[in-house]
Amino acid sequence: MDDPLSPFDPVRDDVVAGGRRLTIARPRSAEDLIDEEAYARDERLPYWAELWPSGLALADRLAAVPLAGRRVVELGCGVGVPSVVCALAGGDVLATDWYGEALDFTRANAAAAGARLDTMLVDWADPPPELLARPRADLVIGADLLYEARNGPALAALLPRILAPDGDALIADPRRPHADALIDPLVAAGWSHLMREVRHGGRVDESGPLVRLHRLRPPPGGVPGA
Ligand SMILES: C[S@@+](CC[C@H](N)C(=O)[O-])C[C@H]1O[C@@H](n2cnc3c(N)ncnc32)[C@H](O)[C@@H]1O
Repeated sequence: MDDPLSPFDPVRDDVVAGGRRLTIARPRSAEDLIDEEAYARDERLPYWAELWPSGLALADRLAAVPLAGRRVVELGCGVGVPSVVCALAGGDVLATDWYGEALDFTRANAAAAGARLDTMLVDWADPPPELLARPRADLVIGADLLYEARNGPALAALLPRILAPDGDALIADPRRPHADALIDPLVAAGWSHLMREVRHGGRVDESGPLVRLHRLRPPPGGVPGA
């Protein structure tokens, strides 16, 4: 069978994430993957093809979370580092993205690490019935998802539909201006919100060396909007 990664001329980076040494494949050039038709259709850009510092910060945070047997859904997984870390820690992981190619890389990175996980093509704004029909997740995770104004409202609508009433969402964000568009509506609906800032070990880009780790929990007694 053809290797789905080979058209992307993959590079493999050795990273330490969540206390584990991983070799992570990603396309050599994210810029070369820009597709003007896809951008004209729904303004999508191939951000999945890079390993973002928030993903590493989230993976490090996950090292302190008990994961064995817990149902985990990653949103916007990119090349899948947090999902791989959760799967290696015994989580029952579903990694999702709206790029099938991101899922190919996530599966390859999981296989290289000896981890088992499932993948699903998911657009937050139009989640597939198979996602909504699954048992609710104990943990929903995501890194650097809030870089466009439209992303916060889509995620604020989706989270109550996929997270268990006693579940947690852990979202890592490099202080993007649109992050409040996720946090504010959930807090207004009674969700609890804790935030801490950590210094990340990845490359420092325009968003700086700090990542915010947001922990969101549904209100006691139910998930409004579910
Ligand atoms: C900045 S990248 C972060 C990737 C990865 N989480 C990391 O930290 O390396 C944002 C990710 O969200 C995905 N994404 C953006 N909009 C999406 C949408 N509407 N539905 C599903 N995934 C989306 C992108 O394809 C990409 O993988």
